[in-house]
Amino acid sequence: MSHEDFPTEKPAVVTCGLPYANGDLHIGHLRTYVGGDIYSRSLRTLGQKTAFVSGSDMHGTPVAVNAEKEGVTPEEFALRHHEKYEATFPRFNIEFDNYGHTHDETNTELTQEIVRTLEAEGYVYEKEIPVAYDPEADQWLPDRFVEGACPYCGAHARGDECDEGCGRHLEPGEIEAPTSTLTGNAAEYREREHKFFAVSDLQDYLQEFIDRLEGTSNAQNQPREWIEGELQDWCITRDMDWGIDYPGEEGDDLVLYVWVDAPIEYVSSTKQYTERVGADTFDWEAAWKESGDIVHIIGRDIIQHHTVFWPAMLRGAGYVEPRAVMASGFITLNGKGFSTSRNRAVWADEYLDEGFHPDLLRYYLATNGGVQQDVDFSWSKFKDRVNSELVGTVGNFLYRSMLFAYRNFEGTPDVSELHSEASETESRAAEVSEEVEARIQEAIDEFEAGINDYSVRKSGNAAVRLAQFGNEYIQRNEPWKLTDEDPEAAAQVIRDCVQIAKAIAVLFFPVAPDKMQALWEQLGEDGSVADTGVDAAFEAPPASFGEPEALFEKIEDERVEELNEKLEARVAETESESDESDEDAEENMDADSDADADIDFEPLADDRISFEDFQGLDIRVGEIVAAEGIDGADKLAKLTVDIGVEERQIVAGIKQLHDLDSLAGSKVIIVANLEKAELFGVESNGMLLAAGDEADILTTHGDAVPGTKVQ
Ligand code: MF3
Ligand code: ZN
Repeated sequence: MSHEDFPTEKPAVVTCGLPYANGDLHIGHLRTYVGGDIYSRSLRTLGQKTAFVSGSDMHGTPVAVNAEKEGVTPEEFALRHHEKYEATFPRFNIEFDNYGHTHDETNTELTQEIVRTLEAEGYVYEKEIPVAYDPEADQWLPDRFVEGACPYCGAHARGDECDEGCGRHLEPGEIEAPTSTLTGNAAEYREREHKFFAVSDLQDYLQEFIDRLEGTSNAQNQPREWIEGELQDWCITRDMDWGIDYPGEEGDDLVLYVWVDAPIEYVSSTKQYTERVGADTFDWEAAWKESGDIVHIIGRDIIQHHTVFWPAMLRGAGYVEPRAVMASGFITLNGKGFSTSRNRAVWADEYLDEGFHPDLLRYYLATNGGVQQDVDFSWSKFKDRVNSELVGTVGNFLYRSMLFAYRNFEGTPDVSELHSEASETESRAAEVSEEVEARIQEAIDEFEAGINDYSVRKSGNAAVRLAQFGNEYIQRNEPWKLTDEDPEAAAQVIRDCVQIAKAIAVLFFPVAPDKMQALWEQLGEDGSVADTGVDAAFEAPPASFGEPEALFEKIEDERVEELNEKLEARVAETESESDESDEDAEENMDADSDADADIDFEPLADDRISFEDFQGLDIRVGEIVAAEGIDGADKLAKLTVDIGVEERQIVAGIKQLHDLDSLAGSKVIIVANLEKAELFGVESNGMLLAAGDEADILTTHGDAVPGTKVQ
């Protein structure tokens, strides 16, 4: 797209969707914040001036409804949760430059100022609309105080969102068959004046904006339908007393809709940061009013707000538009939705109280799937990834190479004699072998590409892959044999490994800041990794360091069993305590996966293949163009598959298992570089991937186009 690659000369602002100050945080909630923290730290590693901000979302009915249940004022309720969040994030090394809240003075003033500007620019008008009313409670029913059916898809919806169906934002008056959540009675619609923001006036602008928008593809694709269709204006006031007063209407029970003041906190929070550190360090006005690279990291349920309403407000008020929106998928626990009411969750505090280091969870959440993909958490998968990747690959490489260096060289081997010829200008790392220098550069390139592709998985994995290379490099060069045979060669191999370790510290720091700071210190380095940048990956480490300690510890199987039992027991207990309906039983999840209950799974393969071997597979996304049976063969079908660069004929054993006529247009995954084969006289040029005896055909979750490599 038209934007320059990071790092740019502009100040960047990375924001995370504001959490409603209305409940406890579980590890699923942490996904966006961990992602934001990693992304902003990575930008800084690349040398980008960056502010990382967020705050608590204090207003609106999500807070008011819960405060009422507890019988406390919304303010008291929200502040309590705000303080809790503010204390919890740093415990996961999520370090905002500023974490404010929407009810503070900065945000109240800025929100009113922006609304006044929108008014002055002619974007605000008044209109009489039907608003839900509870005659028994004698109250207006904004947003979550009313439930009913979605007028677009018919699903059960609450207030301002179709939370169980199409996910759309709903305007007041739109919900059908409304009932009051206060009394459970049918609500009636009464006419009432409200203020509207003329989003439709900005339709042309939004159409261009969405083409420029970067980030994850869901954030660009999902809103197209709305932006290209008939764009509705947006009601920006509500009949409540909790919120920010509509400017000039103070004292009335009319406040701004929560979605007006919430995103403005992104700006207010940046402003508070500037107020604290000075405009020389970070100038909020330069970033938000002149030219900044604004990156929003959010859950995919709030894409519409960030790609339609928010950019429209920014534009109308003369602010900079977002450069990118990264919208993450949902997170499940053992294949099912988290449920706060059923206590079916791993709580943020609980995770730490169990003694797990925050960096392990950061790694899991950030690299288990791409940003857009849904991620499942289970203690056993968590254990697997920690043990195989953090302990087995990263930890193992660091420990073995540094221990070897310490024992044989008391630190970084001195190989300067061997390189007296090499001039500093030709090589970025004068004492490192060419092979290793090139491999470190490759890791830096991957890291940088990950950031520019908005993929923290890719940037995070750059260091893990480098460690993998490191292990292979040691294994191949066997320095333990060389110490006697060829001490100079041994010194060079270990010198290379120490450089790799240093590069890992720099590149893995955004994901695992504590652990990589510890590594930095083990290397004998001073200061904080945070103050270095990618170039440090090539700078020589200190000559001496002490005996290293293992950075990562293995998680035992028994521990996983114990944790699973705890979770099950707790869910069972909560369920027996209340037979309350499953209100939020499966947050963010439509289906459960009990269907696999009695399958006899094949045992997992014992033999591991190397990443290189895996990379030898050319797996691609394809689209079925045509499918027909092969005469004489019971099971075989001949498929024509578009794989972007060309069309392939592929024979697959799916004839009786699928309705061939309905397959055209389906996205599939194929192995493109399998040897050609002939089946029933028909050539098969590639293999279709499908799961199990029923040949459940693999497809993509997002919008990957034919030809995209699966990796
Ligand atoms: N609190 C909202 C939610 O959890 C998110 C607000 S994000 C912002 O859905 F853009 F408004 F800031
Ligand atoms: Zn709907």
